[in-house]
Amino acid sequence: MSNPYQIAASILSADFANLGNEVHSVLDAGADIIHFDVMDNHYVPNLTIGPMVCKALRDAGVTAPIDVHLMVKPVDVMISAFAEAGADIISIHPETTEHLHRSLQLIRDCGCKASLAFNPATPLSYLDHLDDELAMVLIMSVNPGFGGQTFIHNSLEKIRRVRKQLGPDIRIEVDGGIKPDNVAQIAAAGADTFVAGSAIFHGEDYPATINAFRNNLQGD
Ligand code: DX5
Ligand code: ZN
Repeated sequence: MSNPYQIAASILSADFANLGNEVHSVLDAGADIIHFDVMDNHYVPNLTIGPMVCKALRDAGVTAPIDVHLMVKPVDVMISAFAEAGADIISIHPETTEHLHRSLQLIRDCGCKASLAFNPATPLSYLDHLDDELAMVLIMSVNPGFGGQTFIHNSLEKIRRVRKQLGPDIRIEVDGGIKPDNVAQIAAAGADTFVAGSAIFHGEDYPATINAFRNNLQGD
């Protein structure tokens, strides 16, 4: 990825009745990545979309990276299904698998980049023996399940710790409550990949919102 900062548009807040057009519009507006939230009404109290929808986006000509955020338990069967459906990056939560190392290896064996997701109360100690497996760490700055929540401020300290522990080469994605007016401080803490759902899709003008993110990141 050449651009140090990446904007990942979370389609959770898109108009699902018009999903293909929404994805094309947000990419035309300058989003780098499509963030695809998968919820099962078991690990999280909400239910969203599965691999058929991911494949449908590929079949509709979407070539941008698709970053699949799995909030499902058990998770392994969905890893293979999303890899086949066209995912590029797959994030999993440690609480969703009995054998975390094996699940991360499965992501890599399927040809995808592996990412480990941390809820606000999930300890970073899961990283201690895993960093070689990971292309990305996903820091949740809200509790998973819904768009439109408020950014949890002490996620900044968690981001700082991950950056210090894992160094400059790993991507750090942050997810939840990110707006143009707080993105610079999230970047300053060490993040480089910013998920934005409601900030983009609930606004009228996708290019203007994405430009606002980029302008505020340039001032970082
Ligand atoms: C929440 C999801 C997020 C969500 C973020 O569980 O993982 O990706 O879409 O939404 P906003 O940007 O509205 O906080
Ligand atoms: Zn997400």
